[in-house]
Parts: sequence; structure tokens; C-alpha cells
Amino acid sequence: KHTASCDLMVFGALGNLARRKLFPALFQLDKAGLLAPENRILAIARRDLDTSELRAELVRELRAQHEPETDEVDDAALDAFVRRVDYCRLDFTETESFNRLNDWHNTEHELIVYMATPPSMYGVIARNLRARDCCTERTRVVVEKPIGHDLESSRVINDELAEVYRENQLFRIDHYLGKETVQNLIALRFANNLFASQWDQNHISHVEITVAESVGIEGRWGYFDQAGQLRDMVQSHLLQLLCLIAMDPPSDLSADSIRDEKVKVLKALKRITPDMMEQYVVRGQYTAGTSEGRPVPGYLQEEGADHRSSTETFVALKVEIDNWRWAGVPFYIRTGKRLPEKYSQIVIHFKPAPHYIFDPDQKHLANNKLIIRLQPDEGMSLRILTKDQGLDKGMRLRQGPLELTFSETFETGRIPDAYERLLWEIFRGNQYLFVRRDEVEHAWRWVDQIIRNWRDSGDAPKRYAAGTWGPVASIAMITRDGRSWYEEA
Ligand code: BG6
Repeated sequence: KHTASCDLMVFGALGNLARRKLFPALFQLDKAGLLAPENRILAIARRDLDTSELRAELVRELRAQHEPETDEVDDAALDAFVRRVDYCRLDFTETESFNRLNDWHNTEHELIVYMATPPSMYGVIARNLRARDCCTERTRVVVEKPIGHDLESSRVINDELAEVYRENQLFRIDHYLGKETVQNLIALRFANNLFASQWDQNHISHVEITVAESVGIEGRWGYFDQAGQLRDMVQSHLLQLLCLIAMDPPSDLSADSIRDEKVKVLKALKRITPDMMEQYVVRGQYTAGTSEGRPVPGYLQEEGADHRSSTETFVALKVEIDNWRWAGVPFYIRTGKRLPEKYSQIVIHFKPAPHYIFDPDQKHLANNKLIIRLQPDEGMSLRILTKDQGLDKGMRLRQGPLELTFSETFETGRIPDAYERLLWEIFRGNQYLFVRRDEVEHAWRWVDQIIRNWRDSGDAPKRYAAGTWGPVASIAMITRDGRSWYEEA
């Protein structure tokens, strides 16, 4: 099965996102036989380049990026792929030049417009496309985060898009929604009644979400310093993960059923008032240290840095959800740059049994945990209690895993990159993995109040050395509640 006949226009096709993510993902879809033979791609950017030069660049880059363990360079496939791609030089602000797009687009094909540009360009591109009749009511439009830097600026961007397109034409990307295990949260929760029936404050004591990155800011000082980890990661990726864990069962798998439930969670997030900040929010910035065995500079010494910046590169939060399902169940979330390793995981801590009859010294062991690994080693592990072996052990308990590592159990081989899945759903016109306008706005509303509190109190981030797990205050935040961040024994 492959896509319907489709023309894909990529604005900003020579930028970082397009080169690192989009073209490699499109190439994988093509190799897997998922693109219809007549699908074509128009790479649009300002640089003076012709199609054959672009194709040669793409071949070079795709070759350099191939994954040696799982993938062979396939020259014929590469060649076939780049033959789908044409180049068009365009100044996005020049309405007249958009005529060239009409010459290229076959109006019998469906049209997808991918704006891999800064969000400040979305409005002008949309208006120019409309002015030149380049799109119809069936055109799908893809935009990337960040949609603004606060509620107000996100509204401006969304309004500009809404002037030209209806909500059901807009595909707002949060690439975490394209990750294999993130989608599996829906299957895990709603296909397994074992979990569905335990998924509330009667049975769960607390939840942890960690999205740790080992990279620094990767030469993106200009963007990152304006954003910080709360805007860059929490407003989008971590709140999306939280919604998928916390939402009520949707009545079906349609995009709006799922998104309606996510919005209800966002609306129920407890506001963090100024007097709560100290106990609920920890903000950090890395100093010089080590990463993967080599010395690395601190955030303020990165290339292009403003030495006085108080932007956070780490944030830990205690999040509460004011509804029946989650009353009294904190979600501890943390994410940071330059942490010891790259991994993302969710840990669901179940409550202990109501009456405990084993060795009192082992009482701390006696709760089940479900660990959901998003990356690397995608999989799940349920920690259960069994009796220790050996005659002399009596009824001593031990905790061990019921383990499911997707690549081993299902011998699935290569797991597709998030962008492959997202592009595939865009081709199919399915919006369930994309973020609706009200989700973006509710997420900003919640994040904005924290940023306002920081600003009003003149809060400065706490330091942590690169290669450590963030400021000690993030450990204190959870130990204060008699808990700790989960570590593999
Ligand atoms: C992006 C952020 O959205 O996600 C980056 O802008 C971050 O700062 C990246 O590094 C993390 O994505 P992944 O897929 O590598 O976990």
C-alpha cells in the first residue's frame, strides 16, 4: 500500500531540519515502497542552485547519514529517490515568484506544503500561496514547533495560518508523537485492561517522566537562549507525554477524540503560584564538565554565548492534575541538556498492597513499577515482586522485571524514525499524531505562568556540572515527598 498521488513542497529545503530529518525520512519511505511512483518533491529555498546540484548534494548527504548497522547504501534506490526531487529558488516574500510553483504543481495531485522555516515565515508563505491560487481546500500544511514563545505570540502565528487554512488542513508537528513507544502508550493503556483498570489515583502513587539529553545546545545559541528548556521541551514534548499518560480513554482513535482528551488534561493542570515555586520547580544551567568522556564547556562559554544569560538548560517540575483520576498523584518531570546520557523514560509507580505481611525491612520494595523506555532500547518493563530462591531465604522478596524489548521480542529490526511515521500520516491525511491549536494554547497558558513567576522573582538558574543529573535541588524536590528518581538497580 502506498500514498495517493501527491506533490510535496518543502519550504526551507536547505535548512537543518529538512536535511537532517525530512529528506532522510522521505528516502526511507521511498525505499520501503510507500511513496506512489508519481509522488514528487519540490525543494524550495533562497539559494541559487539548480536541480542537478541539489540532487548531487542530497545523494552525498543521504549516503553520509545512512545507518550502517541496519541499512545498506542502495545506489539504485538513492538515484530513484532524488529523481523525484526538483529545486526552486524563491524569495518567500515575493508574491509574483510564487507563480513558478503553479508551473510545477500538477493540480490533479494532492498538495502538501511543508514549512520547514522559522515560524515568522508561516504567515507570509501562506498568504503568497493563496494569492497565487497555489492551494485548495484539500491542501495539507505542515508546520513545526516552536509555535511562538508564549500564548500571545502563538495566537498570532495560529491566526495567520487560520486566515488561509482550516484547522483540519493543519498538521502541527511534535516529533515525540511520532516515536514508536509514544504511540505505544495508547496501545498499552487502552488495549490492556490489566492496566486500564489500574490507571488512577486508587492504584498509582506517582509518575516520573525523564527526557535526558547528553548534547549541549549544538550551535543553536541564538534560538535556544531565547527559549530555554521549559519552552523548548516541556511546553511541547513533555506535556504531550504527560497528556498521553494522563488522558481518559478516547471513545475511538480519531484525531479529535484523542485530542479532546489531551486538552482536558491540559486544562486540569494545577497552576503553580509564586508561593509554590520553590517546592515545585527547579531550574538549572550547566557549567563546564564532561560529556561522554570528553571535557565540554559550560553553557555560558558556548560559541556565541552571552555570558550573563540566565536561560535554563534543565528543568524539573512537580506537576499536579486537578481531576478525579489524578487527585493526589504527582507527576515529577525533568529534562535537561548535558546530562550523563541520552535517554527518555516514563516510570509509573503503583501503590503498595493495602496490607503488608512480609519482612518489615523490605517494605520499601513492595510496590510495582512500570517502566516505559522511549529511547534508546524501546520497550517496557514491569517490576514485580517474587520470592527469593533458596531454602534459607524464607519469604524474602525480590523485585525483578517482566521485560519486553521490542527489537528482541518481535525481531522488528529497524524502528522507523519519528519523521518517517509523521510524514506517512501526513500523506494519508491522518491528524491524530499532530497537535491541535487549543492544545498549543493551553500548554502555553500553563508554561507562561511559570515563566512569569521566574521573571517576577528575578529567579536565577542553579548550576550543575555538565555530565551530572542536574542541580541537587531537583533531587531534593522529589525526596522531600519521600521518593526518589528511579534508578535501575
Ligand atoms: C527538539 C528540541 O524539539 O527536540 C531540541 O528543539 C532537542 O532542543 C530535541 O534536542 C530532542 O529530540 P530527540 O528526538 O533527540 O529526543
